[in-house]
Formats: sequence, C-alpha cells, structure tokens
Amino acid sequence: MFGSVDDFEWGWDILNESTSVDDFMCSKSEHHFEHFLKDLAILYQGERLAITYVILIDNKVIAYYSLATDKVAMNDEEKSFWNKLAKKIPNNKRRSSYPALKLCQLAVDDNYAANGFGKLIINRTIKMALDLKVGCRFVTVDALPDAESFYEKMGFARLSKKPNPKNDTIPMYFDLGAILPD
Ligand SMILES: CC(C)(COP(=O)(O)OP(=O)(O)OC[C@H]1O[C@@H](n2cnc3c(N)ncnc32)[C@H](O)[C@@H]1OP(=O)(O)O)[C@@H](O)C(=O)NCCC(=O)NCCS
Repeated sequence: MFGSVDDFEWGWDILNESTSVDDFMCSKSEHHFEHFLKDLAILYQGERLAITYVILIDNKVIAYYSLATDKVAMNDEEKSFWNKLAKKIPNNKRRSSYPALKLCQLAVDDNYAANGFGKLIINRTIKMALDLKVGCRFVTVDALPDAESFYEKMGFARLSKKPNPKNDTIPMYFDLGAILPD
C-alpha cells in the first residue's frame, strides 16, 4: 500500500445526471471502466439494471462501483464444488441456488490506485449486503484475471474452476455467512 484513504478528503454519492465523470481515467481493459461510467451507468440505472455508487474528491469521481441482485446457481459440471459450498449452509439439501448481491463494476482512477479505495469499496459492499432487509448469502463478482488476487486478498474465492467462456472473467464469491454472528 502506498497511501491511505485518510490522506484524502472524499465522500460517497449515488451517480446522477450531474455527477462529474469526465475526468475519470482507468486504462485497464481498453478503457472499459471509463466507458461504462461515462456512457452506460446512468442508462443502466434508469432501467433498474444496476445502481452506481461513486467516491468523489473535489466533486469529481475517483472510484465507483455498481451493484445488482444476483443468484449463485448450481453448476451441473462442478457438483463436488457445489456440494462443498452448500455444506456450509444448514437445511440446504434441495437448494439449487442462493441469493446474492453482484458487484457488477468496480474501478479506481489510475491516479488514485493503491491508496485503499478498492478495499474501502469492497468493505462497503459487504456492509450494504449485510444491511439489506432481504435474504442475501453471497457477494459475487466476475473478476478480471488481473484482479483475481485483489479479490482473494479481500476474502473472495473462486466460484468455479473455469473462467467464464464468454469473456475469460473469473466468477468469485464472498460468503456473508462466514461473518454472521453464531
Ligand atoms: C483492482 C482495483 C479495484 C484495486 O483498487 P485499489 O484502490 O488500487 O486497491 P487498494 O489500494 O484498495 O488495495 C487493497 C489491497 O489489495 C492489493 N491489491 C490491489 N490491486 C491488486 C491486484 N491487482 N492484485 C493483487 N493485489 C492487489 C493492495 O496491494 C492492497 O493490499 P494491502 O492491503 O495488503 O496493502 C483497481 O486497481 C482498479 O480499478 N483496477 C482496474 C479495474 C479493475 O480491474 N477492476 C476490477 C474489475 S473485476
């Protein structure tokens, strides 16, 4: 870690039409995360497909994440893996899926990386999932291969041995049950 979020004056907001997104820079994945924030996030929000939360410094977005509901569903090809996951949950015998919250997008501006904002967002997402007044057992993410070890550090594990064949992302999960009081 090179810096700390405490070195900055920052605040949270939900993305809206007047949020200042133009200066956001994230070169990873051919600028996919810039494109999503600047061109798609507000449309997704309007269609209730994902809600985007932003971290602002001097009124400009320096990091963001988008959330939507999800489910973790049994994958027939990986039954033993599924059984291991399901064993952690009592009375699970007939379940073929579990409710989840999906971290659909997460990006930190290149100029603010390695200061703890990614970790801050993960912690906030976990807290939001725990605070939901609906059943939600897991936080899920389709991790870019480069980000897999970041998510592992944050307590996520692979949900499947194989990457997603469509885009090579790695399905991962964080088990909220592991931090529930006994
Ligand atoms: C991956 C990303 C979100 C991390 O955010 P960040 O603010 O730079 O990370 P943080 O400073 O909060 O790092 C938290 C910890 O994870 C580690 N870490 C950060 N990025 C990492 C990576 N790519 N691989 C392994 N560890 C990583 C840090 O060293 C730090 O460890 P420490 O607590 O032991 O010091 C950010 O680099 C990013 O936006 N990348 C481009 C977009 C992307 O890949 N998003 C994920 C999409 S699935």
